[in-house]
Amino acid sequence: MHTVRSLLNGQPDPVAPGGVRTIANPARLDEIVSEAHLGDAETFLQACRAAKAAQPAWSSVPAPVRGRAIQQLGRLVEDNAEALARLITHEIGKPIKESRGEVREVIDTCSFFLGEGRRLYGMTVPSEMPDKQLFTFRVPVGVAAIITAGNFPVAVPSWYLVPALLCGNAVVWKPAEYTPAIADAFAQLLLHAGIPVGTFQMVLADGPETFAGLERALDEGIVDKVGFTGSTAVGERLGELCGRHLQTPCLELGGKNPLVAMPDADLDLAVEGALFSGFATAGQRCTSLGTAIVHRDVHDDFIDRFTKAVVEAPIGDPTRDVVYGPMIDQRFADRFEDWLELIRDHHHVHGSSAVGRITRAEPREGFVGDNPEAGFFYHPTIVDGVRADDDLYRIETFGPIVGVASFDTFDEAIALANGHGYGLSSSIYTTNPLHAFRFRERVSAGMVSVNNSTSGAEAHLPFGGNGRSGNGSRQSGVWVLDQFTRWQAMNWDYSGRLQKAQMDVEDLSADLTYRVPE
Ligand code: UN1
Repeated sequence: MHTVRSLLNGQPDPVAPGGVRTIANPARLDEIVSEAHLGDAETFLQACRAAKAAQPAWSSVPAPVRGRAIQQLGRLVEDNAEALARLITHEIGKPIKESRGEVREVIDTCSFFLGEGRRLYGMTVPSEMPDKQLFTFRVPVGVAAIITAGNFPVAVPSWYLVPALLCGNAVVWKPAEYTPAIADAFAQLLLHAGIPVGTFQMVLADGPETFAGLERALDEGIVDKVGFTGSTAVGERLGELCGRHLQTPCLELGGKNPLVAMPDADLDLAVEGALFSGFATAGQRCTSLGTAIVHRDVHDDFIDRFTKAVVEAPIGDPTRDVVYGPMIDQRFADRFEDWLELIRDHHHVHGSSAVGRITRAEPREGFVGDNPEAGFFYHPTIVDGVRADDDLYRIETFGPIVGVASFDTFDEAIALANGHGYGLSSSIYTTNPLHAFRFRERVSAGMVSVNNSTSGAEAHLPFGGNGRSGNGSRQSGVWVLDQFTRWQAMNWDYSGRLQKAQMDVEDLSADLTYRVPE
């Protein structure tokens, strides 16, 4: 069993004012994985103060040398990949193949940013005056407070921590309280990679204590950037709080991601995509498929093939080859049960022998493992007949449930793809480039897949959403640099006199009455 404490200046915090929380393996609830000794608002504040004190020294380390620390982190993660992947599967029940993919995403992120230490380009810009030169520089923001969810307990944190550190910021990381062992393992890898101890702080605390600590830290002026991945409701509150301090947080919130199947689609491919994005990670990705929007001409065929694929999907023990394992944590299981209540009489349910928890009384044929009741295992559910006025159409349902709606015209498909107000990921299956590009133009999502599922973004394209999915901030690739640096403009006049912009600019005389002779 792992006992995990907050890490303040690299040292485990001996006290637990936020209480102690025990984490069980969600696939085998009688197996205790970890014990989290939680801090409180004061712990968070202390971590921010320590980060603030350490940040100037880190920002004066040359960026290529900071890149070296990121390179070393990538190497360490690679050398510990299997242990880290197994720990993810153990603590949150993610299927082992997906856990390995998640660790790969961290390595990819490090590979991308280690080189950015040798770029972090600014520009030289011509001046309107002689003997004067203009420049732009990227400067670190200061202290970044990063609050992340537990469904991607290392990949998503790395999207923030790696570029934030590379850019010369100090970081206070608040991982999900239900993934303490994974968070501790990742924190140790960071600290062993050469990131100076004060530059990286980790606080284990629950949501309300973190919020209170953050409020105090912002009042004190020691947090300069907030990064948050989680629910839209919490994102709204954080946006309000940061706005009061004239800060724009980097928000990565929920999604109700549409997958549109056109009549010209390769239906088997669309079904494969719907199975993966609807049910992998037990539907607990922010990019998980919300509603499949299927043209009426192919709707019945799609439902038949999708139902067959879901009925046959292996579900169960996440250490084996399954499409999905248990819900991550009790709280996810409880919320999912509430969302199952959104199924109405006009809906048609497919995909399994029952709806809800897989039990001995409500078994799932082909369940992988001996006892489904040992963990938070749920039947996969396809809900056909979803309409724009259904709660199931509007509300993000983080779990193994996929809605199916049908449409006649392209305009209707677009209205259904956008009408819920989220705008994270989206997908269209079509063999017609016109449909693909029209969809890209008109869908409100930040990410668009063509003939690929809504999940599975590569780690170096901009990741993020619009509307209820976020405030337009983007993570990953070069785009995230704008979250963790600010542009500084410099001008240098070496003419030896005051040259006033706009006023002392040389004029070129022109005869604007000139016309080409006819
Ligand atoms: C998330 O669920 O917060 O694109 C991130 C994907 C993964 C990341 C999901 N690479 O599905």
